[in-house]
Amino acid sequence: MLMTHNHPILSAVDLTKTYQVSTGTHGRRRLTALDRVSLQLGSGETVGIAGESGCGKSTLAKVLAGLLMADSGTVFYKGTPVAELNSVEARLFRRSTQMIFQDPFSSLNPRMRIGDSIREPLIIAGLPPEIQQRELERHMAAVGLPMDASNRFPDEFSGGQRQRIGIARALAASPSILIADEPVSSLDISIQAQIINILLEMKREFTLSMVIVSHNLLVLRHLCDRIIIMYLGTIVESGPAEKLFQSCRHPYTEALIAAIPGIHTAMSGGRELLQDDIPSPLDLPSGCRFHPRCRHAAHICRTTPPVLTEYPGHHSTACHRSEELYGVR
Ligand SMILES: Nc1ncnc2c1ncn2[C@@H]1O[C@H](COP(=O)(O)OP(=O)(O)OP(=O)(O)O)[C@@H](O)[C@H]1O
Ligand code: SF4
Ligand SMILES: [Mg+2]
Repeated sequence: MLMTHNHPILSAVDLTKTYQVSTGTHGRRRLTALDRVSLQLGSGETVGIAGESGCGKSTLAKVLAGLLMADSGTVFYKGTPVAELNSVEARLFRRSTQMIFQDPFSSLNPRMRIGDSIREPLIIAGLPPEIQQRELERHMAAVGLPMDASNRFPDEFSGGQRQRIGIARALAASPSILIADEPVSSLDISIQAQIINILLEMKREFTLSMVIVSHNLLVLRHLCDRIIIMYLGTIVESGPAEKLFQSCRHPYTEALIAAIPGIHTAMSGGRELLQDDIPSPLDLPSGCRFHPRCRHAAHICRTTPPVLTEYPGHHSTACHRSEELYGVR
């Protein structure tokens, strides 16, 4: 499944995003959701983003989709900073980058018939009515919705059907980049498989580049060429999906994999590796942010943040002890 993706269609360099939050005792404080995050999405590539709740996945997805401004850092569309795109290019970027949400209900107008919701991007694109109708039928068929559904309203559909509607609406904009934030996590297992298959089919049929956020590593293994693991606002490991499962290079990744029922990494020997709760992003640990929970933490881990280091095979990890624990390059 792994392909060579030479030209990034979307990339990000040093994205930092903070939120102002009120805390009962300390008044207002800044919470760091993303801390100098850089990544590349190759043309035709599917990249997964995983990590525990609160590690910054949705924030990253929204910044990449242009729905949220980073405090600093740059998002590039086909090599040009998004902020420097001219008005025509900026419109193209907005249209060609579509987002699918965990709950598509919130992004669908409850008073709009779903056929009109899916048709909306086609109207905005100025397509003639007969082509709008043809495209509507094509996209509804692609996600397995019957045509007579187009006259109904969102609240008449189940969660899985709404997700199909959300995908059809995103596809109607003829995107080249699809950013999906937990697209299946609110659905029943059997429905999840159907939506995953639709996403795989979309990728093939519409030659899409995709970013898929999920806390479910097995979903990402199935869908993605490459997986990025985040921890408290930083990337701790990134590598080809299968390689990450077979030979990860970071104790946090190993712990996440070991926590999947039925999968045990060679080192874990079936033990539960992820202990204690994730610390608050308002109170980030010194050095390696994972050190309070890491069974391999050494003195340097408490004092010095590890740098994301490249290993052969497009595999990077940020861990002082990676070579010692997982072998030299
Ligand atoms: N609008 C906001 N205002 C204040 N804090 C926010 C806001 N959005 C997110 N955060 C905080 O930023 C951090 C990252 O949030 P984010 O939603 O990006 O994480 P996530 O990895 O998507 O989590 P989840 O798996 O629960 O969806 C969290 O600590 C969250 O509480
Ligand atoms: S840098 Fe140290 S604390 Fe962090 S993951 Fe590696 S061994 Fe564990
Ligand atoms: Mg999220």
